[in-house]
Amino acid sequence: MTNLNFQSTIWTRADALKVHTDDPTTTQPLVPANFPVLDDRLFIWDTMPLRTLDGTIVSVDGWSVIFTLTAERSPEKFKDANGDYDITADWNDRHGRARICFWYSRDGKSWIFGGRVMKEGVSPTSREWAGTPILLNDQGDIDLYYTCVTPGATISKVRGRLVTSDEGVSVAGFTTVKSLFSADGTYYQTEEQNTYWNFRDPCPFIDPNDGQLYMVFEGNVAGDRGTHTIGSAQMGDVPPGHTDVGGARYQTGCIGIAVATDSSGESWELLPPLVTAVGVNDQTERPHYVFKDGKYYLFTISHKYTYADGLTGPDGVYGFVSENLTGPYRPMNSSGLVLGNPSSQPFQTYSHYVMPNGLVTSFIDSVPVPTPNPKDLQYRIGGTEAPTVRIELVGDRSFVVETLDFGYIPAMRDVQLKEKSNLISDIDSIFGSIVKGIFG
Ligand code: FRU
Repeated sequence: MTNLNFQSTIWTRADALKVHTDDPTTTQPLVPANFPVLDDRLFIWDTMPLRTLDGTIVSVDGWSVIFTLTAERSPEKFKDANGDYDITADWNDRHGRARICFWYSRDGKSWIFGGRVMKEGVSPTSREWAGTPILLNDQGDIDLYYTCVTPGATISKVRGRLVTSDEGVSVAGFTTVKSLFSADGTYYQTEEQNTYWNFRDPCPFIDPNDGQLYMVFEGNVAGDRGTHTIGSAQMGDVPPGHTDVGGARYQTGCIGIAVATDSSGESWELLPPLVTAVGVNDQTERPHYVFKDGKYYLFTISHKYTYADGLTGPDGVYGFVSENLTGPYRPMNSSGLVLGNPSSQPFQTYSHYVMPNGLVTSFIDSVPVPTPNPKDLQYRIGGTEAPTVRIELVGDRSFVVETLDFGYIPAMRDVQLKEKSNLISDIDSIFGSIVKGIFG
């Protein structure tokens, strides 16, 4: 069993001073402005590939499956002063009406829209925010961990099933949402402590070393807004003169972790954050692991605008590496930056998800478009899948090495589904079989 009495790793200001936008080895290649759109009636952003608890990306009966945060495009509702479709306003509004939908494909890239996972009214809050779909067994049972947002922010899960045929994939179940936990105010900041708190994006996994079920998630370090201190531990070994940190006490991002206290993942205990970014960055979103070469690679996405005063870095994916689940972690590439947007296209992609095969999926946010008339829109809104890229993980370092097709998320393993029996599955036996499946 892992030692759960641990100190959080501090991502220091000195570490973050090493972040360099446009380093060619950690910069995502330019996304062309003539990108294809998955579905011009929909916006999609955070993409959640179907996986097992060890992180393997799986297909079922030869069908790859992804879940996406999704909103209908609303040209009727969002108009500019000339009465034309204001796609930017529509895109910026999407978070408030996010719904989780699913897509399937035979080749891991020609995605067919499957529809909503939960029917309207099933999820208890107004927003269905990001999480992780877990294939539990070879009967197609799924635990979808996700975030119920507004009111509040509650990490939740809903169980359902994928049903396949030669024609496609459909969903069954996904009717009863179970609330798991919210921020506690002791380790993780609550809404009462900060109305801008972040608490979301669960990603469960089985630790390959101790076989226990855990999840990581996005949080902020507990405490009332403005009361955090930036001491020598948060500063790190900064150069002479780096003393003025401005309002950096308002940036308090952290990667949280919880351990399951039962075998089915219904009951959880919050642990201290694995990595804190007090005085560095306010958002460490969608954390997730890749286990490779005996190392724990912990990835998280972050933004340029959420960096603290005196620091900067691109929108993209950042990483921390350790030989132990609970750390201490080292920022990858010394700084933490793994794959950022180039300064010429700072918003081209976001919400990167690193898969165990080194492929990184993300969505297109906006890409600049040169226009002769300065009054024309100078960028193209995406709301669709970005080109997948491949990175190599080499010890504590990473290198971007290849660009692949838009939205290319190939399965690493196919699971042939067995006929589901009429008996209600015994949760413990489901969990037992996953553990056996993963660990032989
Ligand atoms: C990342 C993110 C997630 C959140 C979702 C909301 O793009 O901010 O942290 O769950 O988008 O739309």
